[in-house]
Amino acid sequence: MAQQKRIIVLVSGGGTNLQALIDAESRGELGCGKITCVIASKPGVYALERAKQHGIPTRVIERKQYVSVEAYTDAMLEALDAEQADLIVYAGFMTIVDERICKAYPNRMINVHPALIPSFCGKGYYGLRVHEAALQKGVKVTGATVHFVTEVCDGGPIISQKAVAVLPGDTPETLQRRVMEEAEWKLLPEAVRLFCEDQLFVLDGVVMRKEDMNGGW
Ligand code: GAR
Repeated sequence: MAQQKRIIVLVSGGGTNLQALIDAESRGELGCGKITCVIASKPGVYALERAKQHGIPTRVIERKQYVSVEAYTDAMLEALDAEQADLIVYAGFMTIVDERICKAYPNRMINVHPALIPSFCGKGYYGLRVHEAALQKGVKVTGATVHFVTEVCDGGPIISQKAVAVLPGDTPETLQRRVMEEAEWKLLPEAVRLFCEDQLFVLDGVVMRKEDMNGGW
């Protein structure tokens, strides 16, 4: 039986992925995981309101209060340590931190990205921009990816992916909504559950599930 895990969720905006995690936890679908703190990179974002409505402690660590990425990372490391983080989830977290965070929590940080990595990812691809780029390219299928965070932007081991159709007449906003509804809000809680139940392993940069390994991997 896996031990209880303290999940810290990092946010910068509306927090619909945070909501999906909160809802999954309240349905008992995060396994041994419990969301114990939400950290926002900006004050006043709606994600903080969602956390408060569910009695989850919050912190704000605002980039502009710090002189450098290093100083910001120091503050984040201190907070994560104080919160005794077992798992850190980037749920629409848009602020740059340095690689010391990944080094401190190897294969213990999960990000959700609104495209099928390696498409439309890396520096400059975040939020609506990802969907704008997908529409500009004219892809007929896009989707979402959940992966472990490494020092390579959007380059860490992939946990799960789901394809979503691009439909005629889509705008970045309609496509974003469909990708969230059909992919992100399902994939992220499921990946968190698998992590919390000690089901995920990374071998040579590839994520495998314990159940698959038992089946002869
Ligand atoms: C989500 O679509 C998430 O995948 C994306 O930002 C949105 C946050 O929405 N993240 C990235 O683009 C990271 N590269 P939310 O605040 O409603 O969860």
